[in-house]
Amino acid sequence: MEAPAAPHDAGDLQLTVTSPEQMRELGRRLAKLLRAGDLLMLSGELGAGKTTLTRGLGEGLGVRGAVTSPTFVIARVHPSLGDGPPLVHVDAYRLSGGLDEMEDLDLDVSLPESVVVVEWGEGKVEELTEERLQVVIHRAVGDTTDEVRQVTVTGLGERWGAVDLSVLAA
Ligand SMILES: Nc1ncnc2c1ncn2[C@@H]1O[C@H](COP(=O)(O)OP(=O)(O)OP(=O)(O)O)[C@@H](O)[C@H]1O
Ligand SMILES: [Mg+2]
Repeated sequence: MEAPAAPHDAGDLQLTVTSPEQMRELGRRLAKLLRAGDLLMLSGELGAGKTTLTRGLGEGLGVRGAVTSPTFVIARVHPSLGDGPPLVHVDAYRLSGGLDEMEDLDLDVSLPESVVVVEWGEGKVEELTEERLQVVIHRAVGDTTDEVRQVTVTGLGERWGAVDLSVLAA
C-alpha cells in the first residue's frame, strides 16, 4: 500500500508545545528569523496561545513594554530597545475591513519598517501581502485546562521560501 499523503505542505513545520513557557520560547526563536517588513498571522481559538507566543516574540526582538492582549486597542506598538524593528501587535478581531484600516489608526510607525503580528487576521491580511508567516495553534485536546498545543508554521511567498523553519524545533 502507498504511504498516505502528507497532511500538510512540504514547507510546513509541525511542533508540539507543552506549556506556556515553551510557547514563549518558540516566540523567542521565531524572533531570530524576523526582520523589518515581515508579517506574521497567528490563528487559533480563544486562549490558544497567540498572545503568549507574541510575548516571546517581543522578548526575542528586544522591544519595550509588556506584550498583553490588545483587546481594547486594535494595535499596540512596541519600540525596539536596541536598533531592531519595532513590534506592531494587532488584534484584528474588531477590524471590519482589511488591515488597510490600520493606516487610519495613527500608528506612529511605518509598517514596512516593523515586524507586524496579527491575531484574528484571517480574511483580512491575505489581500495585503502574499509574503507572510502563518502560525496556527490548536489545542491538542478540547479540554481548556490542557496545556498541549499543536503548532503549524507555514512560510508563504518568496521571503519565506528559502528560510529553514526547522531551527524552530527544539
Ligand atoms: N502550551 C501553551 N501555550 C500557550 N498558552 C498556554 C499553553 N498552555 C496553557 N496556556 C494558557 O492558555 C492561555 C493562552 O492565552 P493567550 O492570551 O496567549 O491566548 P490567545 O490565543 O491570544 O487568546 P485570544 O484569542 O483571547 O487573544 C494562557 O492563560 C496560557 O497560560
Ligand atoms: Mg490574544
